[in-house]
Amino acid sequence: TEQSLLQIHNDLVTLAREAGQMMLDADPTLQPPTTKKNTSDLVTLTDRAIETMILTRLSASHPTIHFLGEETSKTNQRLTPNPTFICDPIDGTLNFIHGFPNTAVSLALAIDKIPVVGVVFNPFRGDLYTAIKHRGAFLTTPTRTFKLPLNPIPRPLPSLSSCLVALEWGSERSGANWDLRTRVAKTLLSAKEDGAGKMVRSIRSSGSAALDLCYVAAGQLDVFWEGGCWAWDVCAGWCVLEEAGGLVVGANPGEWEVELEGRRYLGVRGAKRGEQRGVVGEVWGVMGDG
Ligand code: IPD
Repeated sequence: TEQSLLQIHNDLVTLAREAGQMMLDADPTLQPPTTKKNTSDLVTLTDRAIETMILTRLSASHPTIHFLGEETSKTNQRLTPNPTFICDPIDGTLNFIHGFPNTAVSLALAIDKIPVVGVVFNPFRGDLYTAIKHRGAFLTTPTRTFKLPLNPIPRPLPSLSSCLVALEWGSERSGANWDLRTRVAKTLLSAKEDGAGKMVRSIRSSGSAALDLCYVAAGQLDVFWEGGCWAWDVCAGWCVLEEAGGLVVGANPGEWEVELEGRRYLGVRGAKRGEQRGVVGEVWGVMGDG
């Protein structure tokens, strides 16, 4: 019910703020990070401690809701239609390790594999992004709360060539998603073939897919594109972006309905589902058959 979604939202906000304090209290330079798959796929003790804290607290307060977390999920664990908390204890772990203050705890609730509550908190800026399905998206800074997108409402997007695009690199440096990322990045940064300007104004890669989606929701970036991230990276930011009037679709051409576990996502502010002409269609065009 609406009431219980609000309760869950409030509980996730409390946990996100506590997790944020754990990040601020930690000194990642004192902890040797553990390598997961390669030298840019890292995890710290703080990632694990935060996820344990969140899992313990949520299984006590909401024992019937399932849990999918970046650090505790089992290989091949699949998201089911059951109500499920989706947790990335630190989205932007590399930033956290390097002290680059663009990192966040990302908590969401998905029902029927659709994000219905999203909470993204960056403790280094004190910025809290929240959304409940059908109830709008908000940014709470240390001094005030804003409805998203921020005012003045950003102008509509006439075309990709006026967009600032978030494109993330993940930790893979070979394979299909790597080939796709490098090809898409190169095309987006190129001049148009007809000589009429550039494909996009520029791209940004600031190391947190969750925050990228929130920046698109705010209207500070226009597009988020990534091939190769995971449900826990995007679930909360997805809810925030859609509640701010944006759209999350698949990064694969024609994929208007993307699964939460689809691993290739395109988020666009102010876009409408099914509107093939426009920024979504232009990005799909860049991807080609990729
Ligand atoms: C990563 C970040 C990064 C994205 C990766 C994610 P993590 O999350 O969101 O921006 O490129 O694909 O895995 O590992 O720091 O939680």
